[in-house]
Amino acid sequence: MTISFKDKVAIVTGAGGGLGRAYAMELARRGAKVVVNDLGASRDGTGHSDAALLVVEEIKAAGGEAMSNGGSVTEYAQMTEMVTKAKEAWGGVHILINNAGILRDKTFVKMEPMDFDLVVKVHLSGAANASKAVWETMREQNYGRILMTTSSTGLGGNFGQANYGAAKLGMVGLAKTLYLEGAKYNIRVNSLAPTAGTRMTQDIFPEEAFKAFSPESVAPAALYLVSDDAPTNAIVGAGAGVYQSAFVTMTHGVALPKDEQTVEGFAAAWNRISDRSGDQVVQSGMEQSQWALEALMKLAGK
Ligand SMILES: NC(=O)c1ccc[n+]([C@@H]2O[C@H](COP(=O)([O-])OP(=O)(O)OC[C@H]3O[C@@H](n4cnc5c(N)ncnc54)[C@H](O)[C@@H]3O)[C@@H](O)[C@H]2O)c1
Repeated sequence: MTISFKDKVAIVTGAGGGLGRAYAMELARRGAKVVVNDLGASRDGTGHSDAALLVVEEIKAAGGEAMSNGGSVTEYAQMTEMVTKAKEAWGGVHILINNAGILRDKTFVKMEPMDFDLVVKVHLSGAANASKAVWETMREQNYGRILMTTSSTGLGGNFGQANYGAAKLGMVGLAKTLYLEGAKYNIRVNSLAPTAGTRMTQDIFPEEAFKAFSPESVAPAALYLVSDDAPTNAIVGAGAGVYQSAFVTMTHGVALPKDEQTVEGFAAAWNRISDRSGDQVVQSGMEQSQWALEALMKLAGK
């Protein structure tokens, strides 16, 4: 069965090139009306260009519908203005892909606080701004699909990317509350960790890998995660045609008797506490204390 985006209005931030462009093209090819947002910044977030306009022209040349938006995700007012324009033109907003991003890579010892703040501002606060700008509309429509772009750096860390990793895992944290708050309004929120040969990675990837890790091979995962039948609260990895799932898990806990609730008691129990047997995917933050209460009851023999 073909997965269609006919009658859907989608916003893709940072869609003037790389992954965002691939998502926007494929959404439009499958019938969505697409807002191609991009500030047209260079890789470190400085400067402006007409990148979004060029992608809109490509979409139109291929027979699709699109409008460009040059707003910055760091400015909430520009995000609300973008949503207003999309609604005026097309009557709603059903899909948001938070994709805009920059890099300021440096080892932590050399990283200036400003490099940290700016990366968090674009990725994490930018995703919050764009999501907040569409949120009320999605609630009213009783329909919304939001995708956060996380990263293997957020999920696993990477040398020289403390700022980026913090922002990227922060986006998963944002997704995990929005999915709960959006559930009763049919708003589904997922996270995607892509790997693709783009200008962001061009000096990291050898030439062959750069070609294999095409943005087009990531697009199927991104589009599924914003489709009608999308799951919610999923964390997916995609690159070079290989697709993965990631999870935040927790163990059910080791309840220590009162006299063992000491530093020494904790140290003695550490192997049991860190043993992953029986761990489970955490579906909501409430589960940590629920599982703790269950472990206490068990200790008490109830
Ligand atoms: N390429 C990879 O392997 C990879 C891996 C993990 C995560 N990502 C993430 O995927 C997303 C897309 O990256 P890409 O590889 O296509 O790189 P890219 O540099 O081609 O795309 C990022 C786009 O965001 C735009 N942008 C930057 N600041 C903006 C702002 N304030 N407002 C609006 N747009 C802004 C840029 O102009 C650029 O077009 C990013 O969030 C990136 O962190 C990429």
